[in-house]
Amino acid sequence: MKVLMLNGSTHANGTTFTALTEIGKILEQEGITYEIFQMGGDAVRDCIGCGQCSEKGCVFSDDKVNEFVAKAKEADGFIFGTPVYYAHPSGRILSFLDRVFYSSGKVFSYKPAAAVAVARRGGTSASLDVLNKYFGISQMPTVGSTYWNMVHGANGQDALKDEEGLQTMRNVAHNMAWMLKCFEAGREKGVQLPETERGARTNFIR
Ligand SMILES: Cc1cc2nc3c(=O)[nH]c(=O)nc-3n(C[C@H](O)[C@H](O)[C@H](O)COP(=O)(O)O)c2cc1C
Repeated sequence: MKVLMLNGSTHANGTTFTALTEIGKILEQEGITYEIFQMGGDAVRDCIGCGQCSEKGCVFSDDKVNEFVAKAKEADGFIFGTPVYYAHPSGRILSFLDRVFYSSGKVFSYKPAAAVAVARRGGTSASLDVLNKYFGISQMPTVGSTYWNMVHGANGQDALKDEEGLQTMRNVAHNMAWMLKCFEAGREKGVQLPETERGARTNFIR
């Protein structure tokens, strides 16, 4: 089983990376493989709502969105990590995930996920609220921990001093591993995916 993690920072070795690496250590101990997908510093397009998404994904191929979706198809669970910018997730992770989910949301259904927010000081819980919304609309079970998934630090080294933050990362990793193993056991026992009703699309409430 594999967990795909997204580093929504331009800093490949920054605070977000420190948090995701702590999660990775525990996943490995639990026998789960993982990859940290680096968004990097290249430009990321916004969704333009063109409605032209297809089996091939988003129409734009000049950034990493479709590459991430290809990896997501093979993954069993997800962690989306972001630095806090002005008390919200980084603009680039939102542009990225809007296109990932609008073009390919079904790839994520029934796969557990957690969001992680890092900051020097404030805005983590507001940022988590935003990222968690991708999971709720995509039939993704959300993995919890012993605190909200946040690590504090100005940079990757500073974050190593946030012992409770790192403990929270380790616990979300254990919980992710447990959930993945439970789902696998369920599949082996023949538990089917839940029925999904579709069709109703009511734009306003009378
Ligand atoms: C544009 C910008 C806005 C920021 N806004 C906040 C903020 O609202 N609250 C906060 O605590 N830190 C804020 N920070 C600091 C970063 O969240 C913090 O340095 C974090 O550790 C960076 O993570 P990274 O190393 O993974 O990029 C901001 C940084 C930048 C560049």
